[in-house]
Amino acid sequence: CAARKPFISGNWKLNPQTKEEAVQLASEIAASINPSSPDADVALFVPYVFIEAAMEAVGGKLQVGAEGVVPEMKGAFTGAVSASMLKSVGVQWTLAGHSERRVIFGETDEYINGQVLKLMEMGMSCMLCIGESESEFEQNLAGAVCAVQLKKGLAGVPKESMDRICIAYEPVWAIGTGKVATPEIAQAVHAECRRILAAMYDQETADSVRILYGGSVTPESVDVLMAQPDIDGALVGGASLDSSKFGRIINYE
Ligand code: G3P
Repeated sequence: CAARKPFISGNWKLNPQTKEEAVQLASEIAASINPSSPDADVALFVPYVFIEAAMEAVGGKLQVGAEGVVPEMKGAFTGAVSASMLKSVGVQWTLAGHSERRVIFGETDEYINGQVLKLMEMGMSCMLCIGESESEFEQNLAGAVCAVQLKKGLAGVPKESMDRICIAYEPVWAIGTGKVATPEIAQAVHAECRRILAAMYDQETADSVRILYGGSVTPESVDVLMAQPDIDGALVGGASLDSSKFGRIINYE
């Protein structure tokens, strides 16, 4: 849909291991943005400790966001980082609901909803990740799982804030496995997510929310994924750690 600006983003996860590498990777990625390529928003979600250095390295050519946040604002939460802390260093975008947070760190839909609401309250933007496991996919439950994660994750988010929400559909079986969902599968789930959003809000809102695909996106798969009518962008893990690969993904055709 022409009204939705494409959004290509990278999720560095627990990489790279040094500030020097982070700065180098961020600057190479920023340099790879072809000014004549598709007019897309570009963001990198990076480990907290690298956020400010990465921002400096990209010089405003793309957004640098955080990989997560806690729903609490202050107090006795050792190791936590709040939305206000992120905002104070210039972060606009934050991930929430990534399957690794759900599975490894036990974050529930209710907890994720708290993160989303806190980001909305702070005037920030959130990329809410959803997606089914391999066994749920095999049981044909992708749509049903996404419906629950969307409804619970966005509970209490008013329609007026939905322009600060993006959805990333990341089937768990496709993350880091090299098994990218076929464009047909991804398109079908994206269309289903849009129907769910229309039922939760209205058609206009559903038509304006950007839904990104994530899961083994590569330079080889990005073009055909981006050609699908309901795929508005990509959330890229592994390939975002290689500036030439990610550069090619940003400049998809
Ligand atoms: O958030 C991005 C992600 O989980 C996909 O990772 O390595 O399969 O592109 P990857």
